[in-house]
Order: sequence, then C-alpha cells, then structure tokens
Amino acid sequence: MTNPDLSIQLAPNNHKGLLLTNPVMAASGTFGYGTEYADVIDIQKLGAIVSKGITLQPRQGNPQPRLVETPSGLLNSIGLENIGAEALIKEKAPLWNQWQVPVIVNIAGESVEEYAEIARMLNGVEGISAIEVNISCPNVASGGAEFGIDPQMAATVTSAVKQATNLPTIVKLTPNVTDIVQIAQAVVEAGIDSLTIANTFKGMAIDTVKRQPVLGNTVGGLSGPAIKPLVLHLVYRVAQAVEVPIIGCGGIASANDALEFLMAGASAVQVGTATFVDPQVMIQIVDGIGRFMHQQEIANLNQLIGTAILR
Ligand SMILES: Cc1cc2nc3c(=O)[nH]c(=O)nc-3n(C[C@H](O)[C@H](O)[C@H](O)COP(=O)(O)O)c2cc1C
Repeated sequence: MTNPDLSIQLAPNNHKGLLLTNPVMAASGTFGYGTEYADVIDIQKLGAIVSKGITLQPRQGNPQPRLVETPSGLLNSIGLENIGAEALIKEKAPLWNQWQVPVIVNIAGESVEEYAEIARMLNGVEGISAIEVNISCPNVASGGAEFGIDPQMAATVTSAVKQATNLPTIVKLTPNVTDIVQIAQAVVEAGIDSLTIANTFKGMAIDTVKRQPVLGNTVGGLSGPAIKPLVLHLVYRVAQAVEVPIIGCGGIASANDALEFLMAGASAVQVGTATFVDPQVMIQIVDGIGRFMHQQEIANLNQLIGTAILR
C-alpha cells in the first residue's frame, strides 16, 4: 500500500478552508505561541498549532499557585495570561508566516464586542490561518456567567465573530454544561466552521494542613488522562447531532487515544497536558496514526472518522 493520506479539511464551507497535513494539533495554552517549542520538536510536522488564548488587552493572569497535579490529571487556573492582541499581531504573526504549519489563534473576550474586535484585528493578518473562539470566559456584562453555558449567548458570540472575519472560525465548547449538544447545535446554526470539544472540567484541590484551596483562584480546570472518557463521550454525542468537523481535545496521550476520538466522530485532535510529560508525544501520535492506517490498509483519514458510531 502507498503511504496513507492523513490530510484533513476542517473548514469545508469557508472559502479559505483549513487544510491540515495531519489531524494532530497542539492545544491552546499548552504550547505557548509555538515559538517556545521550535527548538525542542519539529513543529512543522504537526497538523496545526493553537496559540495561547489572546485577549484585547494584555493580562497578568490569576494569583499563584496556578497548577496542581492530581493522580491522573492537572488542575490549572492560569487565567489567560497573555501579551494582548496587538503584540501578537506585531511580534508573533510575522514568525508564523515563515512556517509551514498553520497557526490557529485562540481568542477570549469579556463581551461580545471584545470578541468581535479581536476577530476584526486578526482578519487578513498573514501567518494566521484560523481563529478558535474560547467561550469559556466570564461574560462581565451578564454578571460573570460564561458565554459557553447558554445556547443563545454562544450563538451571539459566534455570529459576531463570523461577521468580523473571513478566517475559518472554530468554537471551543466548555464541557461544564447540562447538554453540550444543545450548545453545539446553536453554534452550528450561527454558522461556525468547526467545533473543538472540549475545554477543561471545573475542579479544585484543598490543602488539608492550611485548610484552604490550593489554587490561588480556588477553582481550576481539570485536564489530562482523567477527562479522556468524559470528552470522548461528548464528541460521540455531538458528532451524531451536527455536520461540521469536530476537533476532539481531552486527555489524549497516545495514537490509540487519538484513534478513539477519530472513530467517535472527531476529524482531528488536540493534545495539551500530555505535551508537558513528553514534548515529543504529538509527533509520536502522528506517526502512530500513520502506522495504524498502513497496517489496517486505510488509505484516507476520512475512512476512519465516526466509524465507531452505531447506526
Ligand atoms: C496550563 C493550561 C493552559 C490552558 N490555556 C488555555 C487557553 O488559553 N485557552 C483555551 O481555550 N484552553 C486552554 N487550556 C485548555 C486546553 O487547551 C485543553 O482544552 C485542555 O487542557 C484539555 O486537553 P488535555 O487534556 O489534552 O490537556 C489550557 C490548559 C492548560 C493545562
């Protein structure tokens, strides 16, 4: 058999499209701006890189401590520390423009207008291939509730971002909802190109000697192996309800984990916490998917997607 084709189109309805040479990308917030890893791994072998979440103004993030290890996952409360949209466009995009690997910019806002403003600023900037909209941030105008927990609010942000940019646009959903399918459907109806499922699960840890929460922010987001079965189930459900490509993200640490997500209906995957354990893991996952396809005589990645869905 000739080499299997791992390429995948993640924005088939967008005129620019988002064509990846393989389905494995770095998850937002776990790979900096990509530049930090450029000397550590061959980043050009990745399907894509999602950059650290960017806000309109630079942010310092939450009080320390911001990271706690748990037996099978990581709790973080970084609080979107970042350099701000203007610095990203001036300092990072020109570097990305020299890379083969597409860079997707993860954005976050405290109001619908802020999301739209960042999307407008990024539109047409060379070196930026797509936008990933993180709707897990508190909406200050609505008293701090997250945009991602309400179908109407999620759809409003999606429409505003879509109107502000021609770039392929992905919405990243929060798993901290009663019915993720409802939110996914609302975002798809608002015209999104693809979905990332999912962000972290809310959690906490307590220091029993001090009798107080370990994280400076009290609450954090749980990532890593602990959440993989939970997110796999979310992907499996949403894949049966919507037509747009899904990017699975949660606890993926091996080629087999990635294959499970593809078979559950994801068209691509993101890897976060596992990169902290082994920076080479994403390259191993790309190679492992290729080996599996070769062994199983699967010529094209599309032939794997959703194959575990019972019909
Ligand atoms: C330290 C850290 C920082 C993160 N920062 C962001 C962020 O800025 N924007 C975002 O959408 N997700 C962020 N995430 C969530 C990850 O992108 C990913 O959704 C989550 O960690 C689950 O994947 P994993 O289990 O492979 O790590 C962050 C996760 C971690 C661990």
